[in-house]
Amino acid sequence: MSAVDSKPIGIFDSGLGGLSVLREVRRQLPGESLLYFADQGRLPYGPRPADEIRRFAEQITRFLLARGAKVIVVACNTASAAALTHLRQTFPHVPFVGMEPAVKPAAEHTQSRVVGVIATQSTVQSEVFASVVDRFANGVTVIPRACPGLVTQVESGDFDSPATRRLLHDDLDPLLEAGIDSLVLGCTHFPFLIPAIAEAVGPKVRIIDPAPAVVRQVGRVIVAAPESAPHRNNGSIAAFTTGQPPHPSELASRMIGEPIRFERAPMRELVGDGGL
Ligand code: DGL
Repeated sequence: MSAVDSKPIGIFDSGLGGLSVLREVRRQLPGESLLYFADQGRLPYGPRPADEIRRFAEQITRFLLARGAKVIVVACNTASAAALTHLRQTFPHVPFVGMEPAVKPAAEHTQSRVVGVIATQSTVQSEVFASVVDRFANGVTVIPRACPGLVTQVESGDFDSPATRRLLHDDLDPLLEAGIDSLVLGCTHFPFLIPAIAEAVGPKVRIIDPAPAVVRQVGRVIVAAPESAPHRNNGSIAAFTTGQPPHPSELASRMIGEPIRFERAPMRELVGDGGL
């Protein structure tokens, strides 16, 4: 097997949310080696201005490319909305796959013709979101809702405490009152809350997690780009965080259902001499 064949897939997020995408990569592409990057030292991205998120995304992309990534999965809706176009321009030879709020499947299947999208502040205010609604809502009412508190709950592994359930009701009750029958998870942290969300919205609301579709796209990109050929090797995972110890390894392992060990990303390499 050539060196090219064994190159890993790079996946990044502001934190542990992107593990909802990584978990799906494991299901669909189990032979691939993975590099995961969690920018926990600078989380949350949601309230940050787009130019700052672009800078972070570019730093992380360089970091992953330096470790041989053959494709970069921006497993963060916020970073995708703010930075994907910039990343594709800056690294024209690198295949990128990003997240986009799944308004299209929601609008296609809704009966009530009202759908909700939960995401970060930055995502719901982004041009990308406006454009997705423009292109795909097709007369359906799309109600966005920024839910910053839920990101914090997931980062601390608090998937179904009374506090998380209270937050979910605060965020979702107005959407239910508006008549949604579909709820798009527009932030990669939220799939970890699906059992609690399902309880909060009841059985009549369809919950849409875009991870399976995004990972199918990763599979297509790997096959399409000859230098990114799929590889069947050991399927190892290396993970990095900008967060402080204790490392999130135990929580992350629980989240994906297999061991994953984080090491601290060397900040000097990440940000250069210019600092954060
Ligand atoms: N996981 C990220 C997303 O998909 C955002 C969380 C944050 O605010 O950092 O949008």
